[in-house]
Amino acid sequence: MKHRFLSILLVIVVLLGFLPLGAGAAPDLGLPGLAGIYRDYFMIGGCFGADKIAGERGQLFFHHYNAMTAENAMKPASLYNAGRELDFSAIDGLLAGVAGYGNTLHGHTLVWHEQTPAWMTQNKDGSPLAREEAQRNMAAHIGAVAGHFAGQVYSWDVLNEAMEDLIVDRSDWRVALRKTAWYNAFANGGPGEGGDGHIDFAFRQARAADPGAILYYNDYGLDKPRKARAVATMAAELNGAWLAEGNARPLIEGIGMQGHYSLSTSAADVEKSIQLFAELGVRVSISELDINAKPGGPDEMLKQAVKYAELFVVFMRHSDVVERVSFWGLDDGTSWLNLPQFGGPGAEPLLFDAGLNAKQAYYAAADPEGFLQAHGAAPPRQTWLGCLLRPFRFLYENDDLYGGDIFKYSRAAAVWLAKGLASSNKYARCGYSLLYYLLWPGARAVHWARGILGK
Ligand code: XIL
Repeated sequence: MKHRFLSILLVIVVLLGFLPLGAGAAPDLGLPGLAGIYRDYFMIGGCFGADKIAGERGQLFFHHYNAMTAENAMKPASLYNAGRELDFSAIDGLLAGVAGYGNTLHGHTLVWHEQTPAWMTQNKDGSPLAREEAQRNMAAHIGAVAGHFAGQVYSWDVLNEAMEDLIVDRSDWRVALRKTAWYNAFANGGPGEGGDGHIDFAFRQARAADPGAILYYNDYGLDKPRKARAVATMAAELNGAWLAEGNARPLIEGIGMQGHYSLSTSAADVEKSIQLFAELGVRVSISELDINAKPGGPDEMLKQAVKYAELFVVFMRHSDVVERVSFWGLDDGTSWLNLPQFGGPGAEPLLFDAGLNAKQAYYAAADPEGFLQAHGAAPPRQTWLGCLLRPFRFLYENDDLYGGDIFKYSRAAAVWLAKGLASSNKYARCGYSLLYYLLWPGARAVHWARGILGK
């Protein structure tokens, strides 16, 4: 009897967990909408799917956002049926449901190596298609999809995440490219036909299919100087060639910085990358903003809010080039970071909690300067490991400033440090570690000396 009672209780508890929101939860629509607050600066967007724009979530979504990106519904994998035919019914249904809100639609994404049917790039055995065939697939896809949404879409992510994270040789952006299935198929052609060719090809197809759309390259980790510079070099080269052909507008017109950030993201680094892209004459969007803070009590959420405030101060300072700031979701309850493969349940990365209540992060984003005055800027996060690794980080990120050869000093320094840490003799330990600390300033001194001597 007791067991039965307990099992019924358990079932009720489990069922309650599946209710979309706590009973009686209603979003506070009296709070100023973010889109309104930033109307004179940039658009404020969010990603949407059926779960995010229905009912109360929908009310909150359209209260705060005036731009929208389909979270999944416009990715290649979502658009094809099993017979390899395009089927727009799901996305067209979603868009019809929100047409009255007048939100600007950003397309995401025409080309990506994930969430894309394998047949577009590979044979059945997983080997890359011949270049010609992959080109045909890409052209047909972009032509049909960008053509279908022409007039509806304001801007497109033409290509998503084509750049490697750990970029060792930045002197050539081609070396920094991810060897994706698209890359490998385009590399599978005749002499002189490299995998890098898929980038220029994708952008040219998109421009032809929808000449009115603003074309974006989109990636994460662009707050990291090396990755940002690889992207900038690529855009500069492709745009240079395109403009030299007599075209009036750049081919890659915008860089999307996804902005999946964490508490250790540096707003100053984000700012430097925005400036770097601005120098190219392209616009910037923060396209998928969230700050992945692990649930760790009120302090963690305050730090997250401060980080949002610091970032919004930067975005405002560069509102001449930043045209849109889009969040990757609306509330913590439906963030992608709850998916097991991206960190599991309990994520708290956004401005509203799972009950749709505004978090401190909302107030920070709504009035970043005021919030920072009240709560102070976050002190830089310092860990012992961070201090130890700082010289390497500096070298890794700046070696091209030193002619590209300084990177070898950091490798040497790493060896000395490892020797120091591994040594059982305390004098040797000290000696090796000292070498580690000398190599970094030593390398800089060599650089300066060379500069002065003009070599
Ligand atoms: C994510 C979606 O949010 C998830 O629902 C899906 O399971 C995987 O993709 N970078 C991107 C987005 O460009 O398309 C990703 O979206 C998140 C990372």
